[in-house]
Amino acid sequence: MAEQTESSKAEYSGDGQYNADIVAKHYNQLQESGREARTESRIYYMRNFNNWIKSVLIGETLQTIKKQRNHKGIAVLDLCSGKGGDLLKWKKGSISRLICTDIAETSVEQSEVRYKEMMNRERYKDQMFTAEFITADCTKARLREMYKDPNIKLDLCSCQFSFHYCFESLPQAQMMLQNAVENLHLGGYFIGSTPHAQELVHRLRESPDMSFGNEVYRVTFDLPDKENIPLFGAKYNFHLEGVVDCPEFLVFFPVLIKLAEEYGMKLCFKKTFAEYFNEQIKNPEHRSLLGRMQALEPYPPDRGTELMGLKNIDYKSADEFIQEAGQTESSDDRHRRRQQQIGTLSKAEWEAITLYCVFAFQKVKDMKTGETWSGSDIPSVEGQGNVSGEAIDSKRKRRLDEATPSDATEEKVAKSS
Ligand SMILES: C[S@@+](CC[C@H](N)C(=O)[O-])C[C@H]1O[C@@H](n2cnc3c(N)ncnc32)[C@H](O)[C@@H]1O
Repeated sequence: MAEQTESSKAEYSGDGQYNADIVAKHYNQLQESGREARTESRIYYMRNFNNWIKSVLIGETLQTIKKQRNHKGIAVLDLCSGKGGDLLKWKKGSISRLICTDIAETSVEQSEVRYKEMMNRERYKDQMFTAEFITADCTKARLREMYKDPNIKLDLCSCQFSFHYCFESLPQAQMMLQNAVENLHLGGYFIGSTPHAQELVHRLRESPDMSFGNEVYRVTFDLPDKENIPLFGAKYNFHLEGVVDCPEFLVFFPVLIKLAEEYGMKLCFKKTFAEYFNEQIKNPEHRSLLGRMQALEPYPPDRGTELMGLKNIDYKSADEFIQEAGQTESSDDRHRRRQQQIGTLSKAEWEAITLYCVFAFQKVKDMKTGETWSGSDIPSVEGQGNVSGEAIDSKRKRRLDEATPSDATEEKVAKSS
């Protein structure tokens, strides 16, 4: 991996504001699609799947915090909160205080409206969390100076699908991290989801040019070559069917781990979405949530319903899975199986999903006082994923690329589950 190069520094001074403006403009213009439009989207199941990943990550972390804090009120920073897509998760998690912040003013306004609507519908208003909403470039402004209470102690910072914007430059990554963690309690958590740099670079190097993708996503790198990739400012354009079309930056995990240490943060885990899915699906509650959130596409489809992808290309793994299961079953089971559906995702969506990873850091040291965390409640580090961010062996890598949930799960996930 290359050291921070002159080109990455130049990127910061030259393009910094330009990139932030493009991102803010893009998200400001993004229409809030209605339920019907969302259902018709080519990436309907992928969006639900991503939402499931967020729900599980947030839910699991809140559980850990509740035990740690003895069920006292929980305060959360939703960093780059967008249109408030996680408000319901905060409500379900019974938090007491929320700070939402995003660079896109219109999104912040929409999230505030959404919160007020939620509050109006709420019967027991005093049980609902209180919230504040701040428009700011979280990679450049110090958020604590904008909080109603700058000394507020937070239990959790959640940064979903957004952290990559700060790797434009070292100062921006530092500001974002400072914002994420400076108000955290000792023992508090910083969690998130972000594109997985290693996977992006792997696919870039496999591609004949500077771009790769499929019918639902496209990544186009803005780099002079594939070998000398700067640690900051490694820019690519990410296009996701009808949702995202923005400049983003590679987040090199080993660099993030080192930077986070400077803020007293220790990595608990970093896992690809595929790894996290395989691990969390074993929990019956999460499994049933997967069904309720319609995070997998029923296959074969219901009568009169069309598949999201192309039958012969996108559902090969699902067909193979059904066939393999059929070979080991009795004829009665086979007959029953034929009536059943499994849950799967089209290959194109799965290829986009496997670009991402989840992570969790814990504040183990207060850098001002030197006090260290003595609790023992670090969440599961079992199968940490590729913590160093280096060297996934090629066999495992191929499996990751080719797997789809239908062959990743131990059992079929029936639609009704
Ligand atoms: C893919 S959306 C995710 C929104 C939300 N976290 C979610 O999961 O629904 C990315 C968000 O990051 C925000 N963002 C990008 N750059 C930012 C910056 N420099 N400061 C604050 N927010 C930023 C965008 O405006 C957008 O709302």
